[in-house]
Amino acid sequence: MTRQIILGMHLGNGYGALPGAWRAPGVDPTNYVSFDAKVRHGQAAERGKFHFLFLPDGPSLVADIENEPPHFNLDVMLTLAAVARETDRIGLIATGSTTFNAPYNLARQFKALDLMSHGRAGWNAVTSSGEDVAANYGARLPSSAERYGRAHETIQVVQALWGSWGREAWVHDQATGAFANADEIAPINLRGQFVGSRGPLYIPPSEQGQPVIVHAGGSPNGHELAGRFANAVIGAAFSIEDARAQRTAFRDAAERAGRDPDEIKYFPGLMTTIASDRRTALDRRIALTQRTFPQRAAYLMQILGLRTEAIRLDEPLSAAQLAAARPSPQDPRSAHALKIAREGWSLTDVLAHGVIDYHPVIVGPAIEAADHMQAWFEAGAADGFWISPDIYDDGIDAFVDGVVPILQERGLFHQDYAGSTLRDHLGAPAQYGVDPRAMR
Ligand SMILES: Cc1cc2nc3c(=O)[nH]c(=O)nc-3n(C[C@H](O)[C@H](O)[C@H](O)COP(=O)(O)O)c2cc1C
Repeated sequence: MTRQIILGMHLGNGYGALPGAWRAPGVDPTNYVSFDAKVRHGQAAERGKFHFLFLPDGPSLVADIENEPPHFNLDVMLTLAAVARETDRIGLIATGSTTFNAPYNLARQFKALDLMSHGRAGWNAVTSSGEDVAANYGARLPSSAERYGRAHETIQVVQALWGSWGREAWVHDQATGAFANADEIAPINLRGQFVGSRGPLYIPPSEQGQPVIVHAGGSPNGHELAGRFANAVIGAAFSIEDARAQRTAFRDAAERAGRDPDEIKYFPGLMTTIASDRRTALDRRIALTQRTFPQRAAYLMQILGLRTEAIRLDEPLSAAQLAAARPSPQDPRSAHALKIAREGWSLTDVLAHGVIDYHPVIVGPAIEAADHMQAWFEAGAADGFWISPDIYDDGIDAFVDGVVPILQERGLFHQDYAGSTLRDHLGAPAQYGVDPRAMR
């Protein structure tokens, strides 16, 4: 089978990636607390045959709350429980911190979701960063070495707990009265430097055995963790070269852990405002984000090496400014920002292109998103992408109706789900319990 693009949909706070999405015309401003809205968005992605939903999580309140909603879901597991009941095929990946959760809680929640969704659950195992998150647990953020030491132990304990209920242990034979084979449900008795558990867990296997492990990040410690355990990586990269280097780093780490590099899929992010033409797309973004532009313009000038006193939002950069501009090597977005500025757009329009957003941004017709993904995919920079639409209520549909058919026509994206589990969708090998290769 030829390699095809795998797509994930970012499901955040219920509104979309634009800070002003909550105020967009037609958007219910209470979507943040609406599980019906999350279900609708999940169903929209499933209509487009997306392989998975990705729910990041802090959890903490980091937002300009007077003007913008929090970034995260109310609760990622409860959201996915609701979505699981109203969808059939799409994978469900939630973030869960290895630093601020006990392995036993992670094990039972994710395996319960896996059963509820008939084998569609994935766990984005992250170590959490930021003192604001730590403070919510009455703690300081441990050192990177401690966080990752605990992460390695936590994933092993969780997977051991998942495997502690033997694959064939559940007999549930009403005629004989045998409920389960106790010999095949055994304690794990694991105790490490950071975490431990006696077990066993009281939950039988799902249709995919157990949830898939995902990681989000890109530090050297993250490479080793993901290389050992993850089947997918949620990444962030601004150029083909950067994405290819990241993908290679994860693949190399998987090889060092004794695995086949194809067992780990790398997904950089892509943000989208899909519209009939560039001007319409820019205006849609300006209407919702203009408030932030004075501050963003100052930052943009800084990474272009220009003086901030000279900001004129309604005008293009002058010839003198363009000549003097020096993209900062500290910010990987600066070269692309300068390229857009050189096209002669006003500073407002340059910012509306999303040149200093978290990921590359497509602002315009669907074909531009398809071309971007094809180029990255064929350059070995990605196995797929996680998509953050500007406004979920209509942005997911715009992607599904505009971009997906182009990718399908080009043979780059599946026509329909071939399997029924997240493991199937990702092409991840069967696994139950701990991977013996990870115990070395
Ligand atoms: C695309 C992307 C998504 C991320 N999502 C989350 C998230 O949802 N929750 C979280 O705690 N950290 C998230 N992270 C942060 C990483 O977990 C990690 O803390 C960071 O990338 C590297 O820092 P560290 O190695 O010092 O932890 C994400 C990182 C990236 C690149």
